Order: sequence, then structure tokens, then C-alpha cells
Amino acid sequence: MASASHSRNSIFKKERLQNLFYAAPVLFYTVFLTILFSFYVLCYPRSTINYTANIIQVYNQTTIFIQPYKNDSRSCNLFKGQWVLDERGSLYTNFSCTTIPYKRNCFLNGREDRDFLHWRWKPDQCELPRFSPKTFLSTVRGKTMAFVGDSVARNQMESLLCLLSTVETPKEVYKDTEDQFRAWEFSKHNFTLMAFWSQFLVIATERVVNGSTTGGFDLQLDKVDQNWSEKLDLMDYVIFSDAHWFLRQNYLYEGDNLIGCVYCQAPNVTDLGPSFAIKRAFQTAFKQINECKNCKKIFTVLRTFSPSHFENGTWNTGGGCNRTRPITKEEVVGRDSDWEFKKIQVEQIEMARKLGDYRGNRFEILDITEIMVIRPDGHPGLYWGNQWMKGYSDCIHWCLPGPIDTWNEFLLEMIQR
Ligand SMILES: *[C@@H]1O[C@H](CO)[C@@H](O)[C@H](O)[C@H]1NC(C)=O
Ligand SMILES: *[C@@H]1O[C@H](CO)[C@@H](O)[C@H](O)[C@H]1NC(C)=O
Ligand SMILES: *[C@@H]1O[C@H](CO)[C@@H](O)[C@H](O)[C@H]1NC(C)=O
Ligand SMILES: *[C@@H]1O[C@H](CO)[C@@H](O)[C@H](O)[C@H]1NC(C)=O
Ligand SMILES: *[C@@H]1O[C@H](CO)[C@@H](O)[C@H](O)[C@H]1NC(C)=O
Ligand SMILES: *[C@@H]1O[C@H](CO)[C@@H](O)[C@H](O)[C@H]1NC(C)=O
Ligand SMILES: *[C@@H]1O[C@H](CO)[C@@H](O)[C@H](O)[C@H]1NC(C)=O
Ligand SMILES: *[C@@H]1O[C@H](CO)[C@@H](O)[C@H](O)[C@H]1NC(C)=O
Ligand SMILES: *[C@@H]1O[C@H](CO)[C@@H](O)[C@H](O)[C@H]1NC(C)=O
Repeated sequence: MASASHSRNSIFKKERLQNLFYAAPVLFYTVFLTILFSFYVLCYPRSTINYTANIIQVYNQTTIFIQPYKNDSRSCNLFKGQWVLDERGSLYTNFSCTTIPYKRNCFLNGREDRDFLHWRWKPDQCELPRFSPKTFLSTVRGKTMAFVGDSVARNQMESLLCLLSTVETPKEVYKDTEDQFRAWEFSKHNFTLMAFWSQFLVIATERVVNGSTTGGFDLQLDKVDQNWSEKLDLMDYVIFSDAHWFLRQNYLYEGDNLIGCVYCQAPNVTDLGPSFAIKRAFQTAFKQINECKNCKKIFTVLRTFSPSHFENGTWNTGGGCNRTRPITKEEVVGRDSDWEFKKIQVEQIEMARKLGDYRGNRFEILDITEIMVIRPDGHPGLYWGNQWMKGYSDCIHWCLPGPIDTWNEFLLEMIQR
């Protein structure tokens, strides 16, 4: 024990020295690149900048313009920054939190490295405070918060349950037979937390061809999924997130007419692509919020696309994710569709905000895409305990505890602003 902790400490000391050592050249290099790119963009005809597109794409996700320094925590962009070492580690463990689902309990399932718990997010122009369960629970006293989306939405909600249970043990007050709708109560704080399974936000039915399911869905892009929307009047906060299921072979309907598909390769059906479907589904969900008659003023959060990290193959061709530390922004390659999904989500929340302002609805973006692209070390990988799929890796969901806990630090900061 003593020697293990000693070696961790010396690793941290070494890292700190290295950080100091590298800081100056990195700053210089960034400024240099920024100037170089400005020249490129301003002085060269479009066609000649093509071959630098990769690098530009990484850089315009972070900073291309040097912004004047502002020290005002409220105007600070929380989502621009970097992961820095932090010896403190996570707020909870798999012993203190009893609600970690088996599949996300990476340590129980054999993961041994722990350095991935020792990073915190540092926004460039302010601090992101460590999660305070007390502050969270006092901010949401008397309120109801709902997570609506797929299993990654559930993953964030489970992280929040663990973080909050360090102060009050939640009581599960509802769970349906198919585990699609669950609710917990923190009665000392009069706070209700809900989770709705809705992997498309709109009405979806699985496609059955010749008596067997296809894995694809028929999506009614203009009809909201009642499973969550009929409870909208209870909610003060809603956190939406969805995207991964849109990448299947789905058929798209509007006004009951087939208007196209995603990846279907059917002879006379237009492939409109996943971005189109994502765009329309979020539009429909936000429209429901802005047009809801019996609702309170709702604080809506869109959590952007959560990247996966399969390497050396896809999930079913031997791909895995066994890295044990973050990567650098420079190492990020081939993320065009992730940026695209995120861009569409940001556009939709901005449109909803314009329409919702007069009702007093708030729409905010929990922009984790870039932040998590550089955290390939946060997934269960081989350690998700699936008996029937031994050797397959989960590089989509996130370990609990793990870097996904940071999403709830952002959430707390957002609801306090
Ligand atoms: C990044 O910048 C390039 C060149 O200015 C632009 O073509 C591209 O659309 C940008 N990407 C994103 C995701 O904004
Ligand atoms: C920014 O302001 C906060 C409080 O207003 C202060 O604690 C902090 O030290 C300031 N940061 C910098 C880098 O000046
Ligand atoms: C917690 O993780 C340890 C490994 O770090 C494991 O031995 C233990 O069984 C786990 N306990 C629970 C309750 O998940
Ligand atoms: C709990 O919150 C609800 C909704 O704000 C409120 O109507 C109710 O009076 C609160 N209950 C207690 C015991 O404070
Ligand atoms: C709503 O929930 C029911 C019952 O759990 C389920 O059968 C149905 O597929 C859900 N609807 C959508 C659009 O997912
Ligand atoms: C469904 O079954 C029919 C008749 O057996 C067959 O011709 C058709 O190709 C099948 N369709 C698909 C999509 O498998
Ligand atoms: C494709 O077009 C043909 C001819 O117009 C039609 O018979 C067939 O039903 C169409 N298929 C689909 C899937 O709409
Ligand atoms: C992928 O392959 C490279 C080179 O063979 C190796 O270094 C890396 O660890 C592999 N990654 C995974 C997740 O297997
Ligand atoms: C990841 O897996 C690859 C191949 O399975 C192996 O070569 C590599 O050493 C592993 N990396 C770590 C950090 O365990």
C-alpha cells in the first residue's frame, strides 16, 4: 500500500514538473499556429487550404481567435479548457455508492488502473468547482429534474445519484417493468430525480421484416414520444441527450408519410443521413417544450454528442479501448461526424432559445463533445462484466466513478448561473 501511494505521488510530482516545463513552449506554439492559420485563411484561396483541414478542424473546436482575457466566472466558457492532474480523485467509490449499475462498475469487473480518476477539468478562464452535493441539493430544493434519452443519458443520471447520495440516500419511488421510467426522491431536500428512456425523443417502433426484428426503427420525426412528454408538466429541469441510435438503419416519417431513411440502401428511398433525423427529432422535442400549455418555466439542457473510442476495429470486430490516460487535442483524428452531430444539436438549442425566450424557458448547452473526445480512458472497455460477450469492449458508456462525473459539475454550475 505505502509503496503504491508513494509511486503515485512521485508520478504526480513528475507530471507537474513536466507541465511547468512544457507550458511556455506550448503557449508559444499555440500562438504561432493561430497566427499561421489566420494568414492561411485570410491570404490563400480556399482550394489550397484543403490539406490542412484536419488540423484546422481540431483547432476551430478549441481556439482560433485570441480572446481578450475576462475574469468573470459568469461569462467564462466552461467548455474551453483542459484536463489537469488532481490528486483528490472521485467524490464516491463503488463502496459508498450502492446504486452503481453492475455494467458501469468497472472496478468490480476487474479494471485495475485508477489514474483516470485523477484528472479534473480546468476551463481556461475560470475554475469549475468540485461537485458540491449540498449546493446542488439546496439549489434544486422543491424541484423535479428529468434525464431524457438513451443509455448514456442514464449513465449521467446514475453518476448524479452517486454524487448526491454522499449527502442523502435517495429512495427509489418508481420503476416500471421495462425499466423505461424510474424516479428517485431525496425527501429531506424535496427533490425528485427522474429518468426516461427515449432513444429517439420522438415516436419510434422497431422495424419487423418477415417476422424478425431488424435493429432499425420507424421514426415519426414530427411526433414526440409521449412516454416523457406527458410528464413534462412535472418538470423544472430537463436534460436531453441522444444520437447513437440515429446511426442505425432507420426509416423516417413525417405526417405519416415515408420521407426517407438512414443508411437503408433501399431502391427508392432517399438516404437523408443521421444528421437530418437528429435535427428533426430535437426540433420536435423543443417545440413540445415551447408549446406546452400546462408546464412551468422549464430549464432545458442539451447534452451534446458523447463520443465513443473504439480502436483497432469496431465493437464487433475486435475493437477496444484500453488507454489509461487522456490524449492531447493534437492526437484527435477522424472525428468529422462527431463534430457534425454536435453542431446540429447546438443549432437546434439556439433556435429553441429564440422561440422560448418570451415564455421564460431557458435552453442551455452542456457541451461535452470535445472534452470527452480526449478521454478515451473513461470507458469500461473489457470491464463491463458481460458474461455472454466476453472479449467485447464497451467503449461507449463511461465508468462510475469516472470522467462522466464532470458532466454533473457542469450541470451544477449551469443551474446556478
Ligand atoms: C472548421 O473550419 C473550417 C475552415 O474554416 C470549416 O470549413 C469547418 O466547417 C469548420 N468546422 C466546424 C465543425 O466548425
Ligand atoms: C478571477 O476572479 C476570482 C474571483 O472573482 C478570483 O478568485 C480569481 O483568483 C481570479 N482569477 C484570476 C486568474 O485572476
Ligand atoms: C469495488 O471495487 C473493488 C476493486 O477495486 C472490488 O474488489 C469490490 O468488489 C467492489 N465492490 C463493490 C461493492 O462493487
Ligand atoms: C416540495 O416542493 C413542492 C413543489 O415546489 C411544494 O409544493 C411542496 O410544498 C414542497 N414540500 C415541502 C415539504 O416542502
Ligand atoms: C413507450 O413505453 C412503452 C412501454 O414501456 C413502450 O412499449 C414504447 O415503445 C415506448 N414508446 C417509445 C416511442 O419508445
Ligand atoms: C421476406 O420474405 C420474402 C418471401 O420469403 C422474401 O422474398 C423477401 O426477400 C424477404 N425480405 C427480406 C427483407 O428478407
Ligand atoms: C419502389 O418503386 C416501385 C416502382 O415505383 C414500387 O413498386 C415499390 O413499391 C417501391 N418500393 C418502396 C419500398 O417504396
Ligand atoms: C491498437 O493497436 C496499437 C498498435 O498495434 C496498440 O498500440 C494499441 O494498444 C491497440 N489498442 C487497443 C485498444 O487494442
Ligand atoms: C491494449 O491492448 C493492446 C492489444 O490488445 C496491447 O498491445 C496494449 O499493451 C494494451 N495497452 C494497455 C495500456 O494495456
